[in-house]
Amino acid sequence: MHEHHSALGLATALRNADSGVAIAKLSPVQPVTLIRPHAATRAARFFVEKFPGRTLYAVKANPSPELLQTLWDAGVTHYDVASIAEVRLVARALPEATLCFMHPVKAEEAIREAYHTHGVRTFSLDTIDELEKIMRATGDATDLTLCVRLRVSSEHSKLSLAAKFGVDPAEAKALLFAARQAADALGICFHVGSQAMTPDAYAQAMERVRAAIVEAAVTVDVVDVGGGFPSVYPGMEPPSLEAYFAVIHRAFESLPISYSAELWAEPGRALCAEYSSLIVRVERRRGSELYINDGAYGALFDAAHIGWRFPVRLLREPESEVRDHPFSFYGPTCDDLDHMAGPFELPADVQAGDYIEIGMLGAYGSAMRTAFNGFGSDETVIVADEPMASLYAEADERLSSNVVTL
Ligand SMILES: Cc1ncc(COP(=O)(O)O)c(C=O)c1O
Repeated sequence: MHEHHSALGLATALRNADSGVAIAKLSPVQPVTLIRPHAATRAARFFVEKFPGRTLYAVKANPSPELLQTLWDAGVTHYDVASIAEVRLVARALPEATLCFMHPVKAEEAIREAYHTHGVRTFSLDTIDELEKIMRATGDATDLTLCVRLRVSSEHSKLSLAAKFGVDPAEAKALLFAARQAADALGICFHVGSQAMTPDAYAQAMERVRAAIVEAAVTVDVVDVGGGFPSVYPGMEPPSLEAYFAVIHRAFESLPISYSAELWAEPGRALCAEYSSLIVRVERRRGSELYINDGAYGALFDAAHIGWRFPVRLLREPESEVRDHPFSFYGPTCDDLDHMAGPFELPADVQAGDYIEIGMLGAYGSAMRTAFNGFGSDETVIVADEPMASLYAEADERLSSNVVTL
């Protein structure tokens, strides 16, 4: 891990109850990423124990090798990779992991290397052209698991994935039939869009799967419900993950597939959103606008480009007693687009020199960071306190409140 503890004068991982305040007191000039391995471990164990099938981690959400190791140690053995760079990364970091190449449009060279050099046997596709490409690149291999990606609705999700990939129902029959001829094991996969706010998204997609199986009359060995499992953010409080798992389990059990068929999921966000947060400094205040030292080209791409609202808190001791006020943020680059509308609720007396923690940035946060305009930071500290929000801490509480003490 890029731990530049020396720059912060921190010799070891912080154990403070409030790590954010402790770090703010050190007046870091660069943004600081706080890493919470315990939160990723908790999320991984939750999926491994409670999802009624196999959990594949979608590496694109956060490809940090330290996170990969944490998830592996917590029992995640399968990884959804989308590029040859991700294949190489996971093969190097976790040599015993099983890799599934789930991008439906791949370079032929990438398939060849994945199959022949890294032992990848599972590939997704949504066209006959891609099927032919996979067969060419693998030398007409007979040991492939081929997952046909169906187009499904993203209507219940905050981030659509419905436009780009997935075979339309009208063309699914021919593709499933062709893939069945070529595959050792045939799968059907889909993605309901990221941050699916209701389990109904999966119920509806599973109806598409049912229709496709009935129409094509093929034997299906794997049903992969993809990603989309939500995390918790301001204004986005989803039902419990157990509710999603129950809906998926019921739908899977009622599909016309054999008893030995497997159920898979590819969570990205849900496994790593709680893994990290970011401490930024306010460099200037202009009314309700705060100029901070990270932004759209740093870890806050989603806050800028799709208006995602992350939880924020002022790191001051003693705490401000002033009422909250809605702020927007400007990032550090010279670009007008480097703007995050929020609103982000912070005490109204926030000022230049203050530090703010921005939470729930473990998924699609640091993974999107660039060094545009010379800004960017790899200052990282491992901390042991709780993330600013958690679906899993709530689940633990529900569990313990159900325990009867005699
Ligand atoms: C094929 C595939 N699987 C899984 C994921 C992870 O999705 P999420 O982070 O919403 O769980 C993605 C995200 O884009 C994806 O494209």
